Amino acid sequence: MKTKILITGGAGYIGSHTAVALSDAGFDPIVIDNYSNSDKSALQGIKNILNADIIHYEGDCNDAALMDKIFTENDIAGVIHFAAYKAVGESTAQPLKYYQNNVGSLMVLLDVMQRHQVKDLVFSSSCTVYGQPEVNPVEESTPRKAAESPYGNTKKICEDILVDYVKSNATVRVVALRYFNPIGAHATSEIGELPLGVPNNLVPFVTQTGVGLREQLTVYGDDYNTSDGTCVRDYIHVVDLAEAHVKSIQYLEDKPDTFYDLFNLGTGNGNTVLEVVKAFEKVSGKALNYKIGPRRPGDVEQVWANTDKAEKVLGWKSRMTLEDALRDSWNWQLKLSNQQ
Ligand code: WQD
Repeated sequence: MKTKILITGGAGYIGSHTAVALSDAGFDPIVIDNYSNSDKSALQGIKNILNADIIHYEGDCNDAALMDKIFTENDIAGVIHFAAYKAVGESTAQPLKYYQNNVGSLMVLLDVMQRHQVKDLVFSSSCTVYGQPEVNPVEESTPRKAAESPYGNTKKICEDILVDYVKSNATVRVVALRYFNPIGAHATSEIGELPLGVPNNLVPFVTQTGVGLREQLTVYGDDYNTSDGTCVRDYIHVVDLAEAHVKSIQYLEDKPDTFYDLFNLGTGNGNTVLEVVKAFEKVSGKALNYKIGPRRPGDVEQVWANTDKAEKVLGWKSRMTLEDALRDSWNWQLKLSNQQ
């Protein structure tokens, strides 16, 4: 019998890629998703890749009765908790929606895990907790900054909840993963990023501009203190990111019943926005229509990861390059636009 892992938000961008990675590693992924920021078609994409159905539930992680049902119906060994709202701008306009969903759902999950004696949890956090680090690459020991947005604050608060819960000697083994900038798609183009509406994030906006869905990319500022004036980020392939979640579940298997650890998940390299644009033009063979516009409020100038800890402790390191990820994002966009 395969080890069952519940993936909350498992129809989402990182969740769907993690479901594939877990199955490839011999686990049995179970998905719960309310499709508020994902599409049920991702489940078909996962099925096409795995040639197998996966158990899935439609619903909200804040729904304690549904969560209880899932844990009652399945012998769950561990949970990977992705389900959360993640739009930085939206969180500023609707903070209570973000606190209720992102923090509330973690509290419901921790309670149902305790009642069903499930102790392994991998939590989806974000490099946004670092704000603008004084020094790059940023290490896990780098002090977190005051959040730039309610979204970022929910990630900090959830990390604090988990630390305090572990300190209370609860029977829970936690790995928190601070993602840098996830990009790319599965090589099969069966799953990938599905931004609803106008993409906030750079790479989906780039690929949508490439296929003509968007008229022109605006580069938010070229007057930063960087090599070409545009912001620096650590863009990590979503498949590399997914594999780190498998490593994290395996890492917990022999840990004490009360345990907490956290890891940066990035490539260890920083790239500017214009470097991303140039790499996209190279892999797609298309000139991208873009202009330089004003800075976007809340953007940090530069942040990229020190990934030594994940390499040494998890035995994980990203393998794919920026161009690999942009190629996979482009192929995914072409498939979405039926232009392959
Ligand atoms: C990257 C760079 C923009 C769009 C956010 C969250 C983070 C995580 C990933 C959830 C920046 C520039 C972007 C555009 C641009 N989200 N840009 N034109 O802001 O680093 O991180 O998304 O987990 O928590 O904070 O990612 O892709 O929005 O921006 O010039 O149309 O691209 O200014 O420098 P960001 P991003």
